[in-house]
Amino acid sequence: MLTTDSTGSRLLVDVHVRPGQVSTLRQDALQGLTRQPKQLPPKHFYDTRGSELFDAICRTPEYYPTRTEQALLERVADRVMRSVRPTHLVELGSGMARKTHVLLSAASAQGLSPSYVPFDVSESALRHSADALLADYPWLRVHGVVGDYDHHLHLIPRGDRRLIAFLGGTIGNFEQRDAVRFLQRVAASMGPGDALLLGTDLVKAKATLDRAYNDAAGVTALFNLNVLRVINRELNANFDERAFKHVAFYDEDACRIEMHLESLVAQRVRVEALELDVEFKQGERMRTEISRKFSEEAVAELYGAAGLELVDWYTPEDGAFALSLARLPNRN
Ligand code: AVJ
Repeated sequence: MLTTDSTGSRLLVDVHVRPGQVSTLRQDALQGLTRQPKQLPPKHFYDTRGSELFDAICRTPEYYPTRTEQALLERVADRVMRSVRPTHLVELGSGMARKTHVLLSAASAQGLSPSYVPFDVSESALRHSADALLADYPWLRVHGVVGDYDHHLHLIPRGDRRLIAFLGGTIGNFEQRDAVRFLQRVAASMGPGDALLLGTDLVKAKATLDRAYNDAAGVTALFNLNVLRVINRELNANFDERAFKHVAFYDEDACRIEMHLESLVAQRVRVEALELDVEFKQGERMRTEISRKFSEEAVAELYGAAGLELVDWYTPEDGAFALSLARLPNRN
C-alpha cells in the first residue's frame, strides 16, 4: 500500500491497487468467453471512453435513473444528514463524485463537517473529484481509498458515525447472491452509529425500462460495444464491433434488464493474450450486464439477508427510483 499526502495535508490517498493490477479482465474474459452461454461482467465497460459513454447515457432523455436519483437526493439529503449526523461520508464507487456535492452541502447546512472518504478503483477519477471538492469546501478533509470491492472494503477507515453511500443503482449489477455478499462485507465494517445510503432502481412498466436501455441516439449501444474495444486493446484481440449488435430487454419474471452483444454472423475471434480462439454462431448472444429492478420488499429482504435493517425509504411520487437508509439492527 502507498499513502500519499498533498494539498496541505487535507488530502490523503491509500492506494491498494494500480491500473493493470486491478484488472481481473484476463480471468473474466477467459472464463466468460469459454463458457456457454458466453458472458462478461459489466465492470469492464468503464475505461475512459466507457465512462464518457456512461455519462452520455445519463444525458439521454430515455435514461431516467441518474437524474431521478439526483433530484431525490436533493430532496432528502437534509433528512439523511439530520438522522445520521455523520463524522465521515464514505462513498463506494465515488467515480466523478457528482452526487457528493449534494450530500456535503446538506451536511454543511446542518453545521456538520464530515470528512470525505471516497472508495474507487480508479485513482485518477478519485484524485480528480477530490481536488474539485477540496476547492469547493475549505473545511473538507479527504481520505481516499483506491481499491476494489472484492478485496479492499475492510480497509476503509472506521469512524464514529459514518454515512456510507452506494448510489446510482449499481447494486443492481449483482446477482442476489453477490449483492448479499457485498452488503454483508459492508455490514461487517459498520458500527452502531453508521448508516448505509443505497440507491436502487425500481420495478416499472416494461416499455419504460426497454427504452431506458435502448436510447434512440444509440449511446447505450456504443457503451455496450465498447467492452469489445477494451478486450481488443488489453488482451490483443480482434473483435469487429460491426459484427455485433446491442440487445437489451427487461425480463419481467426476473425483474431485471439483460444486456447482450449478439453476433451478426458466424465468426471466429482471436484473443492473443489468452491464446484463445472464440467461435460465435450467427445470432449467438453474449450477456454483458444485468441491471436488477427492485421493490421496497426486495430491498428490505436484501438488507435482512445481509444482516442490516431498512430504517428509511425515500422515493419520488412516480416511484421510479429509491434511496434507502439501513443500519445494523439494535441488539439490546
Ligand atoms: C451504472 C450500473 C447503474 O445498470 O443502469 C446504463 C449502467 N448500463 N445503461 C445501469 C448502464 C446501460 C447502469 N449502472
